[in-house]
Amino acid sequence: MSLSLPRAAPRAETMTALAEHLRRRIALEGPITVADYMGDALGHPRWGYYTSRDPIGAGGDFTTAPEISQIFGELIGLWLAQAWIDLGRPAPIQLVELGPGRGVLMADLLRAGAMAPGFLDAIELTLVETSPVLRQAQAERLKAHAPRWAARVAEIPDGPLLLVANEFFDALPIRQWEKTPDGWRERLVTWSDEAAEFGFTLSTGSAPADRLALGLSAANAPEGSVFEASPLSLSVMNSLAERIAAQGGAALIVDYGYDRAQAFGDTLQAVKAHRPVSAFETPGAADLTAHVDFHALARCAREAGAAAYGPIRQGAFLNRLGARERLERLTDRSDPRQARALAQGVARLTEPDQMGVLFKVLAVTGGVTPAGFATADTTPAPNGSSEP
Ligand SMILES: C[S@@+](CC[C@H](N)C(=O)[O-])C[C@H]1O[C@@H](n2cnc3c(N)ncnc32)[C@H](O)[C@@H]1O
Repeated sequence: MSLSLPRAAPRAETMTALAEHLRRRIALEGPITVADYMGDALGHPRWGYYTSRDPIGAGGDFTTAPEISQIFGELIGLWLAQAWIDLGRPAPIQLVELGPGRGVLMADLLRAGAMAPGFLDAIELTLVETSPVLRQAQAERLKAHAPRWAARVAEIPDGPLLLVANEFFDALPIRQWEKTPDGWRERLVTWSDEAAEFGFTLSTGSAPADRLALGLSAANAPEGSVFEASPLSLSVMNSLAERIAAQGGAALIVDYGYDRAQAFGDTLQAVKAHRPVSAFETPGAADLTAHVDFHALARCAREAGAAAYGPIRQGAFLNRLGARERLERLTDRSDPRQARALAQGVARLTEPDQMGVLFKVLAVTGGVTPAGFATADTTPAPNGSSEP
């Protein structure tokens, strides 16, 4: 997927503290990978984007599905409760969210999950979150459920697992390679003193990742093609899937992305105050994301011994779980203004020209077909979404 975003960067006098750190880092180490740039921009312990702010909502930089409609979290709560029942109602069970933002999704899903007798008593809640600012917001919203926090998946306590991740994987760093007349070269980020801005340069050696060498009929890609991979995303998925295969559980991954077997295209994008900006403009002060390669995640889960379902489109998934019925029930109890807002929220999440198609849902289980998916959803078509 190509995005024609501006690549130019600001002048040195307007540099963020993080931009200055990156400039010095490049001066010392030489050009850095896109993953290193993204990792620092989002997660630097002092000046990283997520370290230093709450970016979500109308007054921030972007809005997410749970912030748009409570129905999103409620339906996911029912999905998780059903997965728990399918597992034989184990107690305790680890309930985990990766990147919980302000805790809205978790609060909504726990409220709905309470409808399954025994579910709330069985769960032990872990939030995988690196941002101290967002941990604070989560602590306030979720204190009744006594959450614990982890900085990485490896810290989640052992046992059967129920996991949800909404817009988490798109925040994990990617690497990029570009097809040149001399073959594939890695894109690196450099700094030009002369222009006083960041920009791309290419690696001199041809050292594509194994996945690039294995996964692509790279010879057929036209010159200028960009290929992306997120090694950290694969590593997280590998850990989750191995664990689900060994200890039981179910995971639901929701994000924007593609599911093609061979995806070319530059999807690195930056957003500030709900508008696209250059990825190089204000590192540390703008959100930086890339589309999620669902095909790679699903393959990784299967290779780790778990079953992967989807990806299917978010709109289809929510409708199968009963978004319309839930909307009707809520509308019955609302005044006309609230009813309009509820309907708009569901439309935004499900309509094809809004979030219904771009956003996709992948489920990973130990083998049980999860709610909202069909057995047929286990085999994504090589060149498109696995369902209409
Ligand atoms: C785009 S927000 C999504 C928030 C929430 N899931 C929602 O739907 O509103 C990304 C979340 O992932 C967290 N995050 C980003 N990178 C992370 C990492 N490497 N480890 C743990 N959490 C991370 C952010 O702090 C934030 O909570």
